[in-house]
Amino acid sequence: MFTDLPKFVFFTGKGGVGKTSLACATSLNLVAAGHRVLLVSTDPASNVGQVFETEIGNKITPIENVSGLDAIEINPEEAAAGYRERIVGPMRDILPTDALHSIEEQLSGACTTEIAAFDEFTALLTDNDLLARYDHVVFDTAPTGHTIRMLKLPGAWSGFLEAGKGDASCLGPLAGLEKQRTRYATAVDRLSDAALTRLILVARPRQSALNEVARTSKELAETGIENQQLAINGMMPQETGGDPMAEALSQRDKDALAATTPEVAALPRTIFTLRSENLVGLEALKRFAAGAADDVESTQSTAMTDMDLPTLGALVDDAEKPGKGLIMFMGKGGVGKTTMAAAVATELAARGHKVLLTTTDPAAHIMETLAGGLNGLSVSRIDPAQETARYRDHVMVTKGKNLDDQARAMLEEDLRSPCTEEIAVFQAFSRIIRKSSKHFVVMDTAPTGHTLLLLDATGSYHRDIVRHTGETSGKLVTPMMRLQDPAQTKIMIVTLPETTPVLEAAYLQIDLQRAGIEPWGWIINSSLAAAKTNHPMLQNRAQSEVEQIDTVRDELSSRYAVVPMQAAEPVGVEKLKSLCETSDNSAAA
Ligand SMILES: Nc1ncnc2c1ncn2[C@@H]1O[C@H](COP(=O)(O)OP(=O)(O)OP(=O)(O)O)[C@@H](O)[C@H]1O
Ligand SMILES: [Mg+2]
Repeated sequence: MFTDLPKFVFFTGKGGVGKTSLACATSLNLVAAGHRVLLVSTDPASNVGQVFETEIGNKITPIENVSGLDAIEINPEEAAAGYRERIVGPMRDILPTDALHSIEEQLSGACTTEIAAFDEFTALLTDNDLLARYDHVVFDTAPTGHTIRMLKLPGAWSGFLEAGKGDASCLGPLAGLEKQRTRYATAVDRLSDAALTRLILVARPRQSALNEVARTSKELAETGIENQQLAINGMMPQETGGDPMAEALSQRDKDALAATTPEVAALPRTIFTLRSENLVGLEALKRFAAGAADDVESTQSTAMTDMDLPTLGALVDDAEKPGKGLIMFMGKGGVGKTTMAAAVATELAARGHKVLLTTTDPAAHIMETLAGGLNGLSVSRIDPAQETARYRDHVMVTKGKNLDDQARAMLEEDLRSPCTEEIAVFQAFSRIIRKSSKHFVVMDTAPTGHTLLLLDATGSYHRDIVRHTGETSGKLVTPMMRLQDPAQTKIMIVTLPETTPVLEAAYLQIDLQRAGIEPWGWIINSSLAAAKTNHPMLQNRAQSEVEQIDTVRDELSSRYAVVPMQAAEPVGVEKLKSLCETSDNSAAA
């Protein structure tokens, strides 16, 4: 699988690409070669314990049936909660409730989760006694460039957590690290030592995923982690049996690989083909680790024919009723938010409504194929890079103007956090939101609850609205108020029918609920269960989607749709409209 691995091995990549499976399989191979291994899992859907039939949790635990292997499971959300409490606890009796809430919100974002996880990693990277006991430590996740850069900034450790400031700051969370500065420096050093650390970038063979790999690779190389390798996971096999869907997916994967940047193409690369089943159980994992062929048994796919999957069209029937309003899409990267937004907007326009579609998609093809294509539909684009730059400049000239060089450097890095883009884009969006009181406005991104709470806590939100609208009367409606009102706003959660993506989407929903927003519906996109295929392996995968679809229906949403995987990329008015139609499920018979 992977050869000549150094002491520390990190897997990085989007949720659900197979980091944990690869980390487990790699650990098994290392153990089989006689090495002592510590496996560190941070996967929210971690089934490492299940796979090894051992209760693990947040302590180093020997794996009974695999001698030489110990494991530890770090729950990133729990780590973040503990970390938050360490910082907030001592202030509890000192600060007023409002100020405490504001600080708590600053410590509730993705940056805190990452820093808390890094805090846990640091213990494992720097404890020399522990390291003497293991030949390899295998992590199923890796820190981001942003986190590492912040840890490297001199003096970035204190003074940024001030009551009432409430900005989307990633520096706040750093306050908790102050006491152990040298340990963090050691941890960061070890990461950038090529003899000690290798980073394995895991991605599906999709163009958007590979573009993201290119960014991550470059960013981490710049922070010093240069020992990198690429793992393409889930490549559609060449043998398609003439099945049109399998043919199309195979071609799509090959095209995506052919189109990678020269830098990504230059990385040492290992390809793992798509398997018919999820890797559950030690035996399945051992076969995978040993490189055994996929075992496609004939499917019991008859179950699929009876499944009555609700269509996107039916969801639009419901969303259409008020004749106007805001419809926003939320979901992790690449799940299909822009595509679903375009499909819903197109369908509404085709049904005679006036619709404004706003998108942040840098790819112009959606614009080209939709603009002028349909009466009643207009499209506007928000350029995230441009908005973010504008927002950054604004903060630097206002907040940054009285800072010394070191503080300015910190503020600059802080403004590179993912929260910044979200805020900037949302501010651009909020200029358009008002229009939804007259007709439909469809947006391909929704802000997270965390961002909304941060903005609301500072009041900068209200100030901004007043500035942008010139509205000063008593009946001011802020975007937050509009988003919380189900009569005005419908938020759709978009996910893929797989374990980790569904879990991640569930977390997004909880985050919105924290801000008083109840998502209106869920869209399960790129479903093989809803598509037409005779390919045995794809039918097996379709079967494994059923559990995820059931979870969404029974536990996560009262309203949902399942959109079939398309053989051709869904662009253009006709293809987008067809996403709303009932799929032909006859092939599964
Ligand atoms: N049902 C589908 N069948 C096949 N391909 C799809 C389907 N839905 C989306 N895609 C393709 O998947 C890719 C990602 O979709 P899209 O750009 O809509 O995702 P996104 O969530 O908006 O991504 P980002 O987070 O990067 O904005 C696109 O190439 C799109 O054409
Ligand atoms: Mg998009």
